[in-house]
Amino acid sequence: VDTGYCGSEDVLHVKIVVAGGRGMLGTDLAAVCRAGGVEVVCRDLPELDICDPDSIAGALEPCDWLVNCAAYTAVDRAESEPDRAMAINRDGAAHLAAWCRRQGAKMLQLSTDYVFDGETEKPYMEDDVPSPLNQYGRTKLESERVVQASGVEHLTIRTQSLFGPGGKNFVEAIRAQLDQSDTPLRVVNDQVSSPTYTRHLARSILRLLEAGNRGIVHVSAGGCCSWYEFAVAIVRSAGANRDVIPVSGSEFPRPARRPRYSVLATDRFEAWTGMTMPSWEEGLRDYLLATPTENKEST
Ligand SMILES: NC(=O)c1ccc[n+]([C@@H]2O[C@H](COP(=O)([O-])OP(=O)(O)OC[C@H]3O[C@@H](n4cnc5c(N)ncnc54)[C@H](OP(=O)(O)O)[C@@H]3O)[C@@H](O)[C@H]2O)c1
Repeated sequence: VDTGYCGSEDVLHVKIVVAGGRGMLGTDLAAVCRAGGVEVVCRDLPELDICDPDSIAGALEPCDWLVNCAAYTAVDRAESEPDRAMAINRDGAAHLAAWCRRQGAKMLQLSTDYVFDGETEKPYMEDDVPSPLNQYGRTKLESERVVQASGVEHLTIRTQSLFGPGGKNFVEAIRAQLDQSDTPLRVVNDQVSSPTYTRHLARSILRLLEAGNRGIVHVSAGGCCSWYEFAVAIVRSAGANRDVIPVSGSEFPRPARRPRYSVLATDRFEAWTGMTMPSWEEGLRDYLLATPTENKEST
């Protein structure tokens, strides 16, 4: 078992088109493909609008795999824009699946731990019953269902709490707070997940394509933590001398409800690939090495 991409000496001989290829995951997936000699083409707004079949037909090109990283990902805003979120996440995925069927391409759909309600004590398996708490989770569950119903040959990856270069993510939010004020950080301690580095996820995606299985699979970092524990690790890694105070999610009311415990079991991923995902701590370390910043506080 290892944690890198290349299980074999061979380059993966497939052509991949990434919809949403300039988003956080799409960017890292393209970088990992290029580094591994895998042919990859990225498409995103404005040249590709997955809500518009004509735009899809015009912007996409023949490929072995269409990876759908395009999505409406504003979890709180989706509560007030449910139709728009559904149009992008469900209908967009359906249009892409129809295009793949016509082209004879396989489709990889990204989904989320937010399809689950988090009312459990143990990591979610792929066959556990989904029960989303918020609109975003509902649209992503629908995306899974339309891809499956389309009859396209597909793989659906549920992942969670992503952070990667160039994206709006939790690590950058904490770094920004360290830069902008001197006050203690107050961070939610009653929501637990496995924060996952997009570079590590991207390598796993290639491993899964190489492995050849189909269906739903959970892929997220090893271990788990609350947002509070993650924030403490980020502050420590930054060498900052700042208090972090654990608080309940009820102290930060937000439009969308979040699951309390949405850790994903990755046994299926490990069985399919012979690979274990690096831990969230390793993900944070690798991400910080890849995105150094000037530390404004001394210890
Ligand atoms: N981020 C997370 O923590 C997380 C967790 C679990 C699962 N996921 C899933 O993982 C996938 C990738 O997430 P991400 O964080 O990389 O998302 P992201 O950074 O928000 O990237 C999504 C990309 O899709 C584009 N897009 C939006 N509407 C589109 C449309 N109609 N047509 C074509 N492109 C469109 C966005 O463009 P604009 O920026 O211009 O809108 C953006 O470039 C998504 O399926 C997401 O649901 C994410």
